[in-house]
Amino acid sequence: MKKTILSAKEVFKSFAHNGKQVHILTGMNVDIYEGDFTVIMGASGSGKSTTLYVLSGMDGATGGSVIYNGEDLTKLSEKKLSVLRYSDFGFVFQQMHLVSNLSLYENIIVPGYLNKKRSASETEKRADELLEKMGISDIRDHLPSQCSGGEQQRCAIARAVINEPKLLFADEPTGALNRKNTSEVLDLLTELNRNGQSILMVTHDLKAACRASRILYIEDGRIIGDLDLAMYDEKDEKSRETQVNAWLTSLEW
Ligand SMILES: Nc1ncnc2c1ncn2[C@@H]1O[C@H](COP(=O)(O)OP(=O)(O)OP(=O)(O)O)[C@@H](O)[C@H]1O
Ligand SMILES: [Mg+2]
Repeated sequence: MKKTILSAKEVFKSFAHNGKQVHILTGMNVDIYEGDFTVIMGASGSGKSTTLYVLSGMDGATGGSVIYNGEDLTKLSEKKLSVLRYSDFGFVFQQMHLVSNLSLYENIIVPGYLNKKRSASETEKRADELLEKMGISDIRDHLPSQCSGGEQQRCAIARAVINEPKLLFADEPTGALNRKNTSEVLDLLTELNRNGQSILMVTHDLKAACRASRILYIEDGRIIGDLDLAMYDEKDEKSRETQVNAWLTSLEW
């Protein structure tokens, strides 16, 4: 029996655009489970990023509730939300948003120091381990501008997981990467998930989606497709792609 980590109940999100309300999420209901690598897919403009922002409390909902740890994120104060975001959640985006005048190591360690649950020396140990795991220890003192996109994204992932988030949110983390860097980043996410990291990732890339244990499909502001997959195994990549592709085709992706 899977444990629910995050639950969206009748979530609505609208934006005012040219004096008119545009309805993006229209009563979305979904449970996200602990330990899952959940992927969100859907057409461009269907509200995938919006879903991620609303579910993580980065943006407010127009209606409904988002339940995390017994609390409704839509009702929390901005102060409580910001604490929750750095203590319990991790974020990775298409653009890495690293601090340009800090080294890779400093980019990773700074949010670690903000976490009062761990001593400075424990944080430093974890940062060293993450640099190693992400394959960027040799370039730890480089500035982001001196690194490839893939190296920067691996640093951004290390930064996102330094505080051992309960849930890692990722919005098209491979969207700006070439094929080689994409598979390296996907391998890292897969490994994190194998070690128990819950992940909620938006992608429009079939290969990235195939890493999921579950794929959700958004249309008209709701989840209209929900596919459970076996744990990712490289050996089955081709048949997995065929399965996911057929499912997406049936949804007219
Ligand atoms: N702050 C905003 N103000 C007005 N409209 C917005 C705002 N943010 C998003 N939208 C609109 O909401 C819709 C959904 O946007 P969203 O970014 O969630 O789509 P998406 O599924 O992530 O698309 P893509 O695959 O292109 O990234 C779009 O039509 C977008 O223009
Ligand atoms: Mg988007």
